[in-house]
Amino acid sequence: EKAGYDHFMLKEIYEQPDAITDTYRGRMLVEEGIIRMAGVDDNMARIANAKRIIIVACGTSWHAGLVAEYIFEDLARIPVEVEYASEFRYRNPVISENDVVIAISQSGETADTMAAIKLAKEKGAFVFGVCNVVGSSISREAHAGAYTHAGPEIGVASTKAFTTQITVLTLMALKLAKHRGTISDSTFRFHLQELERIPAKITKVLEENDHIKIIAEKYKNSPNCLYLGRGYNFPVALEGALKLKEISYIHAEGYPAAEMKHGPIALIDESMPVVVIATSKGHYDKVVSNVQEIKARQGKIIGIVTEGDEAVRELADYVIEIPETIESLTPLLTTIPLQLLSYHIAVMLGKNVDQPRNLAKSVTVE
Ligand code: M6R
Repeated sequence: EKAGYDHFMLKEIYEQPDAITDTYRGRMLVEEGIIRMAGVDDNMARIANAKRIIIVACGTSWHAGLVAEYIFEDLARIPVEVEYASEFRYRNPVISENDVVIAISQSGETADTMAAIKLAKEKGAFVFGVCNVVGSSISREAHAGAYTHAGPEIGVASTKAFTTQITVLTLMALKLAKHRGTISDSTFRFHLQELERIPAKITKVLEENDHIKIIAEKYKNSPNCLYLGRGYNFPVALEGALKLKEISYIHAEGYPAAEMKHGPIALIDESMPVVVIATSKGHYDKVVSNVQEIKARQGKIIGIVTEGDEAVRELADYVIEIPETIESLTPLLTTIPLQLLSYHIAVMLGKNVDQPRNLAKSVTVE
């Protein structure tokens, strides 16, 4: 059932081109320039007129929520807040009928996320679920929703659930943007075309696997690792660090690259690997100067860059290239090498990749 792969995690990483295609298939009509999502279409007035969107989730799903915050605000111009479900539910949050709460959960069974949406419903908010498991508790409790069509995710470390969550949330943001008139027709169509090209581009990133193994071999014994990114790729830095922690038990932290000089830069010396997401769009020059600062302190740099990059390549110890795409879609590509890097390090260290210690696939207790 691992289809020839050594672990479910690796199989699920490689399934991402298909999982993303399955998630947008039937919803995104590129030629016609239409996005169909029944859960959104049937509740368009309520969702598109929201004063605010509050996203609640845990773990990797919370990271997908952070990416969505950038997309929704950028394209649909609706203010978004992203909350850890566990904090939101105990905070006496200010919620009203004008709010739309989006709950993101692969399993649809996470106790804190479930409690958060029950609370939001009591206060009159409209609750939209983004779940992977069909018929799960959260998908039933929500007023409406859209499934990710990732297929079963068995590995405890979430991979294809994350990228398909981003896919669904991107479709939703684009749809709302079109309805609200905050995106031009040509930009809308361009986004659809570019999203359609993402699966093939992921396949290309997966071809970097052997090169990523070499990098894993080099840094597998480091006790710490720092992940940096900006804008759309700040949440990817958090997600990369979580993946490494979970399955290799190496201490890792993700930070917005510019926040480095407010503290974490003190950690950097010749023994600190720093993974920097430095794609050509989105504050590239600023990230390059962050890379220079790391270099000046002898930090080891692993750059995730756009094909043809020169500036980061010159400074970095290793680079992993991803194909060019529009900025909002870069997380779908930059995440892939970080998943593979964690996977290979964990395998090399002899860890139980699919079932890391102390963790369960779905956290049904708070
Ligand atoms: O099923 P959910 O998406 O609600 O799960 C949320 C988190 O428990 C989950 O993403 C967890 O952080 C993963 N192990 C991350 O790889």
